[in-house]
Amino acid sequence: MRDAEVRNHSQRVPAQAGVAGKAFFLETFGCQMNDHDSEKVAGLLLSRGYAQVETPEAASLILYNTCSIREKAAQKVFSRLGEYRAKQNDGKVIGVLGCVAQQEGEEIFKRAPWVSLVCGSASYRKLPEMLAQLEAGDHRVTGLDTDTDETFETEVTRRDNPWRAYLTIIEGCDKACSYCVVPYTRGPERSRASDAVLREVRQLAELGYSEVQLLGQTVNSYADPTPRGMRFSELLLAVAEVQGIRRVRFTTSHPSDFTSDIVEAIESQPKICDHVHLPVQSGSTKVLRAMQRTYSRDEYLEKIAMMRGANRPIAITTDIIVGFPGETESDFEETLNLLEEVRYDSLFSFKYSPRPNTPSIAMDDTIHEQEKSRRLAVLQEKQREIQSARNEELIGQAFEVLVSGKSRRENQWAGYTTSHRMINFASQGKELLGTYVKVRVTDSGPNNLVGRQEV
Ligand code: 5AD
Ligand code: SF4
Repeated sequence: MRDAEVRNHSQRVPAQAGVAGKAFFLETFGCQMNDHDSEKVAGLLLSRGYAQVETPEAASLILYNTCSIREKAAQKVFSRLGEYRAKQNDGKVIGVLGCVAQQEGEEIFKRAPWVSLVCGSASYRKLPEMLAQLEAGDHRVTGLDTDTDETFETEVTRRDNPWRAYLTIIEGCDKACSYCVVPYTRGPERSRASDAVLREVRQLAELGYSEVQLLGQTVNSYADPTPRGMRFSELLLAVAEVQGIRRVRFTTSHPSDFTSDIVEAIESQPKICDHVHLPVQSGSTKVLRAMQRTYSRDEYLEKIAMMRGANRPIAITTDIIVGFPGETESDFEETLNLLEEVRYDSLFSFKYSPRPNTPSIAMDDTIHEQEKSRRLAVLQEKQREIQSARNEELIGQAFEVLVSGKSRRENQWAGYTTSHRMINFASQGKELLGTYVKVRVTDSGPNNLVGRQEV
């Protein structure tokens, strides 16, 4: 998943008319799962007569969908809540959703008594009830259960991107990585019924979406709960067969559940995108054991070899944590040489931060902040070199691009290849947004590709 970014969903859509006085402002922190949860919450609110507005000042209901994956992300939420208090907007209802809500629970009412709703993602199915309680004038409403086997399904989801639709297929996580809050904040793993997933994909195709991105913390651990008992690779193939769908993406994959049938599905069905996000976290088996990652360096490299052996090139990206308790200089060296061995197309890297309610909180976090920063910088520099070289190899090649952005500069556009590389390109075309074009790469840098449309 991506690093925490802050997004205000209402900036992308105009405010819609609502029932007098009921208007919500929704700000989202964190990963794609949170983005998509926010899309579902927005759909739910719109269907209940709320309008969506672009500023907290214009809203009667202010919601923050929060992330607590790393310390900084959680701090950002409290500072946002603090800022809001300073504005002293009376009469507004403020709610905290997502992982910080789950993590802090009723503590939020103590730290920020101006908050009225606290709801973790495993309890979103109760949101309609909770909203009704708030509308009836309740001042403290919570949804904090995680002992659920249900998933968050809504009748209406208000999606932000008109071409790529996110779709959750599995919620929660049953792994127990020692640094990670997700099993605690998002609860146990629950897979959605395959027929419900396929029904939604058909609806999306009818609405004009041509790309779907299947989401889950461990998306490839998917296990269909219905008698059809579809495996993840079978679901991928079935989604790709839905008429109107041109691209199927999925994220995030867990190395232990990454099996050869997934690679075979990518090989046999061009609509399944040639990109796998496979977080390794560390190149040292010793550190991986301490992280409870359930695979060794060699086992991970076997998965990479499986992909490199495919009859279609597959882009591979990863997540890495530096400075985990006990990570020595030589463990870190192993991570650096793993980068050289795999040659990732891109990576997200983080300094370890101890999180509440995780097993690793009991381990001494003895690597100093300065040393963590040094390792992070060394790692990022190495990756920069690798990416520069990899991107340069693409010069001269042509790729299909789904156009999703238009630059202010004339005749300049941007979009993604199937391998999820962003490319800026020149074209004389007029209405390219949402279309698929062929682009030849003419130039590159460590983080970008530049090209020209082929005609
Ligand atoms: N400290 C640092 N990074 C973390 N991640 C998850 N938990 C932590 C933590 N406590 C990183 C992992 C994961 C990504 C989403 O965030 O690399 O894959
Ligand atoms: Fe966290 Fe590990 Fe589950 Fe990923 S697989 S969400 S890192 S516990």
